[in-house]
Amino acid sequence: MYEPLSVSVHACHWANVGPETNVLVMGAGPIGLITLLAPRAFEAPRIVVADVNDHRLSVAKALSAHEIVKVSTNIEEVAEEVAKIKEAMGTRVYVSFDCAGFNKTMATALSATGSGGKVCLVGMAQRELTLPLTSAAARSSKVDVKPLITHRFGFSQKEVEKAFETSAGGGNAIKVIFNL
Ligand SMILES: *[C@@H]1O[C@H](CO)[C@@H](O)[C@H](O)[C@H]1NC(C)=O
Repeated sequence: MYEPLSVSVHACHWANVGPETNVLVMGAGPIGLITLLAPRAFEAPRIVVADVNDHRLSVAKALSAHEIVKVSTNIEEVAEEVAKIKEAMGTRVYVSFDCAGFNKTMATALSATGSGGKVCLVGMAQRELTLPLTSAAARSSKVDVKPLITHRFGFSQKEVEKAFETSAGGGNAIKVIFNL
């Protein structure tokens, strides 16, 4: 039991889990159940566990989860389930541990975690994962990308042609955008 526990302790160190970090654990299988133990020891104020299986969830609750959320395997339901998870957390999710490692559990973890938070992949069910990186990355409002916009064009036929010439022409164009 100590080997998987060491994985959880390491994950908590990596994600700086402490008295101010609420933790989401995706998956209540053997890895998820053991992973939810360490955040407790690190004094995480709130731990929410999500899984597809009622029995596993009840074990998670008995162990130390503050709240449990039943989810499905249907990828279409990510948004709905993220809302349920946020409600169960009641406040920001700082750290998510994906202890399942499916497209869907990672998508849920990425979406549920607050900006600037951390998502840590602990379990690996799929050999390859497809992740919604744009929605995960497009939150950095603290980064000013405006200086990268070097040219702006209107949306008329002529302007569009000029825009593409500018963009393809190499030279000084970095980001060429249209004003709509
Ligand atoms: C993960 O997503 C990719 C891309 O949509 C898909 O090809 C793959 O089958 C998915 N894997 C599973 C196990 O659903």
